[in-house]
Amino acid sequence: MRLKDKVALITGGARGMGAAEARLFACEGACVVVADVVVEQGVIVADHIRAKGGKASFVKLDVTSEKDWETAVEGAVRSYGKLNVLVNNAGIYRTDPLERTTLREWDEVMRINITGAFLGIKHVIPAMRRAKGGAIVNVSSTTALVASGRGSAYGASKAALLSLTRHAAVQHAADGIRVNALVPGPVDTEMIAANIRTPEGRAASIARIPMGRIASADELAYGALFLASDESSYMTGAQLVVDGGLTAQ
Ligand SMILES: NC(=O)c1ccc[n+]([C@@H]2O[C@H](COP(=O)([O-])OP(=O)(O)OC[C@H]3O[C@@H](n4cnc5c(N)ncnc54)[C@H](O)[C@@H]3O)[C@@H](O)[C@H]2O)c1
Repeated sequence: MRLKDKVALITGGARGMGAAEARLFACEGACVVVADVVVEQGVIVADHIRAKGGKASFVKLDVTSEKDWETAVEGAVRSYGKLNVLVNNAGIYRTDPLERTTLREWDEVMRINITGAFLGIKHVIPAMRRAKGGAIVNVSSTTALVASGRGSAYGASKAALLSLTRHAAVQHAADGIRVNALVPGPVDTEMIAANIRTPEGRAASIARIPMGRIASADELAYGALFLASDESSYMTGAQLVVDGGLTAQ
């Protein structure tokens, strides 16, 4: 088992990639804390994991709330004795082009996608130091690397997350805490459902991808698993791009 005896907190774990990561990490032996603002679906994910013999619990966490982070980290340590892994997976996607992006929308995207990850890293560091190390996985996006006709706040927030990843990695390498970024291309989840609902929308998304298809959430969960596990023990401050060749062109 690749995460035997590890305790992992996954934000945005109620659905999509976060739920896939939670299920996979539990199968690989981790005690998983599923954290999300969406309670009902999050509880179901944790219940399913336990029903299959895994260890999991749900905590309501709004990643923009410092108080929620304190409660979630304390709860994880109280329940499982330590915290080894954080996946900063929660995020929101907005597609308005720059000129039509309101300040309110810009601030909302930044608050959740980058401030949320900053707060998460800040609050897990003491617990990971006590555990003599840890692994943090920040879920970025290929929109951090290449621009698209859509969005602007989203790509900028995900690019900021890559810089935060490198700063955190350098500052905490001596603590044995590794910080890496997972960089997905399009993934078949609720987040991009509106873009790919119609055959034309799906075809347009796929046209940019050399492998000719959109990723499944499970394919990204395997990337997160590698970065969370000791298999990536010499990696920190790095970016693992999982995009079907999108940014190779
Ligand atoms: N789906 C894609 O094509 C794609 C591509 C690249 C990167 N990503 C990134 O992958 C991550 C997961 O995305 P997904 O596709 O599974 O999306 P999703 O919309 O299916 O899931 C996102 C989850 O984050 C939660 N969330 C939102 N705001 C939150 C907050 N303030 N506090 C706590 N939880 C919150 C939501 O409730 C939801 O459960 C995101 O960071 C996203 O930006 C997704």
